[in-house]
Amino acid sequence: MQSKWTENDLFLFQHLIPDDVDLDYAVSQSHENQFPENEVSKTQGMLLSLLIRISQSKRVLELGTLAGYSAIWMAKAVPDDGKVVSLECDREKFELASRNIAHAGLQNKVELLCGPAAQSLQNLIDEGTEPFDFIFIDADKPNNPLYLQLCLQLSHPGTVIFGDNVIRDGKLCEKTSEDPKVKGVRQYIEDLGMSDRLDSTALQTVGIKGYDGFTLTLVKS
Ligand code: SAH
Ligand code: DHB
Ligand code: MG
Repeated sequence: MQSKWTENDLFLFQHLIPDDVDLDYAVSQSHENQFPENEVSKTQGMLLSLLIRISQSKRVLELGTLAGYSAIWMAKAVPDDGKVVSLECDREKFELASRNIAHAGLQNKVELLCGPAAQSLQNLIDEGTEPFDFIFIDADKPNNPLYLQLCLQLSHPGTVIFGDNVIRDGKLCEKTSEDPKVKGVRQYIEDLGMSDRLDSTALQTVGIKGYDGFTLTLVKS
């Protein structure tokens, strides 16, 4: 089925997603550096952009920058006085993302923090950083449960939390899985469901990036 999923995604990209040289540049640089092709797809990037604009989010937090592809999508979605803070632990990726964001002329809207996301999140909490309106969790999946707890301390009622890659080729349902990524997303979804402060859903997706899915959460209190 993968070739059919890809062909259909290509039709959607052609008709729905405007050409954007800044996004194309970021992806081509990432692939040239042989970084994993784990950036969101074009339609997923547009979904992030639409969710940010529909929710009128100004302050966006991203966990997992890679080459800055999704950060560029989101920086273009926030208003002129909006901001994206993105966390990346890998120095090489952090530096390439910085260059890609500068190439797009978005350096004033995007702040990249280099270091383990849990530490950067704790620093933001300790500094009393203003809460974020939209949070994209897309770093190392084993830490998703920890990231959720930290992100809730950087949220306000109305904050939207989007969690990437939770279906993992359908392995989410494998309750005896020893895969730390599967264990991480399973616990993350259990935690979402147990919190009275949150309303959440999740959708399974297929496309150019295979079979996966995401969670969408509204912080209520
Ligand atoms: N959001 C990006 C893709 C992120 S891929 C996009 O869609 O364009 C996941 C990224 O998380 C990788 O770049 C990886 O280096 C980073 N990462 C992995 N573990 C991390 C950690 N503990 N802290 C911060 N970033 C981490
Ligand atoms: C993985 C991470 C991602 O952010 C992604 O989009 C796809 C896969 C992973 O860690 O396997
Ligand atoms: Mg992802």
